[in-house]
Amino acid sequence: MTGVIARSKGSPVELVSIVVPDPGPGEAVVDIETCGVCHTDYHYREGGISDDFPFLLGHEAAGRVSAIGDGVTNVKVGDFVVLNWRAVCGECRACVRAEPWYCFNTFNATQKMTLEDGTELSPALGIGAFAEKTLVHSKQCTKVDPAADPAAVGLLGCGIMAGLGAAMNTGNVGRGDSVAVIGCGGVGTAAIVGAELAGASTIIAIDRDPKKLVTAQRLGATHVIDSSSLDEAGVVAAVQALTNTFGADVVIDAVGRPDTWRQAFYARDLAGTVVLVGVPTPDMMLEIPLLDVFGRGGSLKSSWYGDCLPERDFPMLTDLFLQGRLPLGEFVSERIAITDIEQAFTSMARGDVLRSVVVI
Ligand SMILES: NC(=O)c1ccc[n+]([C@@H]2O[C@H](COP(=O)([O-])OP(=O)(O)OC[C@H]3O[C@@H](n4cnc5c(N)ncnc54)[C@H](O)[C@@H]3O)[C@@H](O)[C@H]2O)c1
Ligand SMILES: [Zn+2]
Ligand SMILES: [Zn+2]
Repeated sequence: MTGVIARSKGSPVELVSIVVPDPGPGEAVVDIETCGVCHTDYHYREGGISDDFPFLLGHEAAGRVSAIGDGVTNVKVGDFVVLNWRAVCGECRACVRAEPWYCFNTFNATQKMTLEDGTELSPALGIGAFAEKTLVHSKQCTKVDPAADPAAVGLLGCGIMAGLGAAMNTGNVGRGDSVAVIGCGGVGTAAIVGAELAGASTIIAIDRDPKKLVTAQRLGATHVIDSSSLDEAGVVAAVQALTNTFGADVVIDAVGRPDTWRQAFYARDLAGTVVLVGVPTPDMMLEIPLLDVFGRGGSLKSSWYGDCLPERDFPMLTDLFLQGRLPLGEFVSERIAITDIEQAFTSMARGDVLRSVVVI
């Protein structure tokens, strides 16, 4: 069995032999068919998430359950599943107050996958799917319609769900709303698609890379703003000009920087909503007049994994995909071999792809 690991901070990823134990109670082994390359895999390789090297990378995956442990009832061998990093516990304080998308005690496999010398691996987001097989908690497996292309629906496992949910769940976009999305990579473009599905009538795509705006417009943006030569006030003014001078009802920051967040804050209408779905780095600080926070009112939210519930959202979104109502296939920019992940990181950094998907 082989898998792709990040052995130490900043060093290129390696394809190595790994040992995947048979599933114990509550666990499942999944034969991976496809796995998208996400920014977070790169963050792991750079030591930006934790120091628990070596990491077994990959977490946007679809595949077939090949073995289950004792007591597993939610899946059986042969089921087609999308893996998730939100297997909710049902018992923590978030779950008991009926907000399980905030679950503070999500499940992962108890046993460890290892290198052949016994070194324990840390699976990315508790998944580790740049591999032929991976071991997860059975509730990390969400059954979806097996007619769907695994490369497309596997992307629901992380970034695309985060973007769709930032609009549909966290931002609670509704019919007739105006929405602006800052940063049109995979996550931001998914937020545009989510805003359209939710019925937004004005959808403004903002990016400093004009080629990202072409895709955004094809996938649902009604207006685009090339921010490459605009300062913060310029971006705000451009959004206001497209929204009757008021600003947008919901502004989604899919970059995650202080400057883009401030643009989101000021580009929304009074009492509007800001959704932060891009992930900032620990050194980033925000300074903003507190009176503006008070005076402008509204709602300032962050969105982890699009506030999704995999069991509720993955099958529904897969069905919409199969009906031609959700263009998940458009996010698959290229299909690559498991040996090409470093090149995929380069394409991602250059902005050439929404998603590179490894086909195992
Ligand atoms: N919240 C979550 O659960 C979650 C899940 C997955 C990914 N993410 C995060 O979402 C963010 C976006 O991910 P992605 O895969 O779309 O990345 P990406 O690199 O594909 O896209 C980022 C986009 O932002 C644009 N951009 C960068 N700086 C900008 C600026 N100052 N103004 C306007 N546009 C700018 C880039 O041109 C690019 O198009 C990342 O921070 C990622 O870690 C969050
Ligand atoms: Zn819980
Ligand atoms: Zn991810």
